[in-house]
Amino acid sequence: MTRLFDTLSIKSMNLKNRLVLPPMRCGKAGSNGEVTDDLIQHYLNLSDGPGLVIIEHTYIADGGRSQGQLGISHDQHISGLSKLTNAIHSKGVPTVLQINHVGSMAVSKVIGAQPVGPSAIVNPRNADKEMPKAMTKTEIEEVVQAFVQASIRAVKAGFDGVEVHCAHGYLNSEYMSPLANIRQDEYGGSPENRIRLATESVKAIRKVVDKDYPVFCRFGARDCLPSGLELPESSVMAGLLVNAGVDVLDVSGGMGGIEPLGEKPQGFFVPEAEALRKATGATVIGVGGIIDPNFADEAISKGRVDLIAIGRGMLKDPTWCKNALATLAIKS
Ligand SMILES: Cc1cc2nc3c(=O)[nH]c(=O)nc-3n(C[C@H](O)[C@H](O)[C@H](O)COP(=O)(O)O)c2cc1C
Repeated sequence: MTRLFDTLSIKSMNLKNRLVLPPMRCGKAGSNGEVTDDLIQHYLNLSDGPGLVIIEHTYIADGGRSQGQLGISHDQHISGLSKLTNAIHSKGVPTVLQINHVGSMAVSKVIGAQPVGPSAIVNPRNADKEMPKAMTKTEIEEVVQAFVQASIRAVKAGFDGVEVHCAHGYLNSEYMSPLANIRQDEYGGSPENRIRLATESVKAIRKVVDKDYPVFCRFGARDCLPSGLELPESSVMAGLLVNAGVDVLDVSGGMGGIEPLGEKPQGFFVPEAEALRKATGATVIGVGGIIDPNFADEAISKGRVDLIAIGRGMLKDPTWCKNALATLAIKS
């Protein structure tokens, strides 16, 4: 029986336990997306305990960024990111970088241009309620290439893997959602078409990284909004992502945020992670309001998920993972 404190290897990456710090924007990046000492200290404080640290969503292109976000859009970002990976590695923990294009959530006063999205539909999370421009195929290809260049930089900066952000209403998630994507071309309509930007990006990343290099996907399994994306379609999309080369599905949801509306039971996206594990055979991370170490341990021992992410629990108490593992080890 596998337990929370057991090791796991994901291609070239070796995890000392099954706990993950999920990507969480900390607001400590510099004004040009650079790593700051404050940001490094923030992650150092959170690296004692989890088997893996996933760094917050980081913009791949200047046109797809938000205010105060961490960046990997230029080679100049590499040296700061290398300091960050060195710091986390000094704790004996591997680290993955989440790479993202914020799509039509960007505002023109930050990016200096009209934001872009799959279709001309205002993103409810756009602070200025700006109408985005529906992307041309050339612009789609530029985003794929930006994901590729960001991955090359992530490898150079020493990250042990990359995570393509496909959740929370950002660009890939907008393409996936029937609420934001009404395109008539091969990027709209069927689930195969709506996940095409993401699968093309993953396939292109796979061509430039080592075959043993882990590629994760933060996967929005449900929009959690009326008439939005639901599991029957998203499990088709997840399968296509895995076929394209995704090793780990970091399962989340919420087109307008990071949680379901209404009731939020402990492990609120664990059922979706469990379903996608069964449907795709991929390694999955379960998340959502987890505060009880026994809940986390049971989700692993019952084979529901492979890894458990503790977000706000770790922000509140950076010793959460360490204490949880110690408590479980004593009991067993
Ligand atoms: C302050 C904060 C920032 C977040 N930033 C990101 C992010 O950059 N990328 C992402 O995929 N999810 C982000 N999330 C969502 C978390 O990764 C996680 O899925 C969510 O908080 C649920 O887990 P929890 O209940 O254990 O906190 C963020 C959450 C919080 C609270």
